[in-house]
Amino acid sequence: MRVAVTGANGLLGGEAVAQLAGRHQVLALGRGPCRLSPGPFAWADADLGDGSSAERALLAFRAEAVLHAGALTDVDGCERDPEAAWRVNVGGTEQVARACRRLSARLVAVSTDYVFDGEAGPYGEDDVPNPRGAYARTKRCGEEAALLLAPGAAVARVAVVYSGRPGAKPTFATRVVEKLSRGEPVKAFSDQLVSPTLAANGAAMCLELLLETRHAGVLHASGATVLDRVDFARRLARRFGLAGEIVPVRTAEVKLLAPRPLRGGLRVDRAAALLRNRPLPVDEAIERFHAEWRRRP
Ligand SMILES: NC(=O)c1ccc[n+]([C@@H]2O[C@H](COP(=O)([O-])OP(=O)(O)OC[C@H]3O[C@@H](n4cnc5c(N)ncnc54)[C@H](OP(=O)(O)O)[C@@H]3O)[C@@H](O)[C@H]2O)c1
Repeated sequence: MRVAVTGANGLLGGEAVAQLAGRHQVLALGRGPCRLSPGPFAWADADLGDGSSAERALLAFRAEAVLHAGALTDVDGCERDPEAAWRVNVGGTEQVARACRRLSARLVAVSTDYVFDGEAGPYGEDDVPNPRGAYARTKRCGEEAALLLAPGAAVARVAVVYSGRPGAKPTFATRVVEKLSRGEPVKAFSDQLVSPTLAANGAAMCLELLLETRHAGVLHASGATVLDRVDFARRLARRFGLAGEIVPVRTAEVKLLAPRPLRGGLRVDRAAALLRNRPLPVDEAIERFHAEWRRRP
């Protein structure tokens, strides 16, 4: 099958390409050059923000299925530049969805727990989004673009993505391990409830949703455990045998441009019932993260 992945240099997209390569004919799309380890996939340099190049690449490839994982994910950066956030997160999804519609290709667009305001999480798929801030609002509009423009599309929401894959970009989880390993203290928000998602697990669920189901509409595909970031950091420290200091901080004490949902987190019962790749409980995911980490050069 011809399967395309946007955001292929990213945490989730990179994992998806690695899982697909060799099993399908794969087109990986990203901006600029490929930063993935070489493999049996083709690369397209396509800007999601320019209104047409991702659409053109998908049409030329004659994609049969598309995992749309590309996005501007810098939450405060989106707040600083809402036009860029709109161009990429809404316009980029529009390009991808238009191509899927023209090709009658199946689309799974990846989205976020940030579409909820964090007043009363954890949230299920039927809860009504109330996005706050430019990242959250553009991601929510991107969801609608996917669902409206590509008939039968699914939206897979994930949260706090992390990966130990060599070359994967730094995240909260990798910073915890690196700082504690150097003997430095780590600050972690004590009042943000989240559903951390190991990229490999999120990608596996998204690909199964894409290629093995016809599920249309929203599905929560995050990790299975809702916990605060201090608890997450402590579990990471315990698994890595690191003794350093984890300093709890409240969100209001830190100057952040964009608002953060506090009582967030995603309910994943539907994904657990629908998919063979189940949402992983946090300690199981950390175990796999630890194994990924040990394979780093
Ligand atoms: N990371 C999280 O904690 C998190 C949480 C909830 C939901 N999500 C969602 O999960 C999906 C995957 O994100 P991720 O975690 O894999 O984050 P990521 O590592 O930041 O990946 C996003 C990818 O999109 C690419 N991108 C950004 N602007 C682009 C443009 N104009 N044209 C083409 N590509 C562009 C980035 O390219 P560069 O690598 O060149 O910057 C990056 O590779 C996104 O939909 C995101 O909103 C992520």
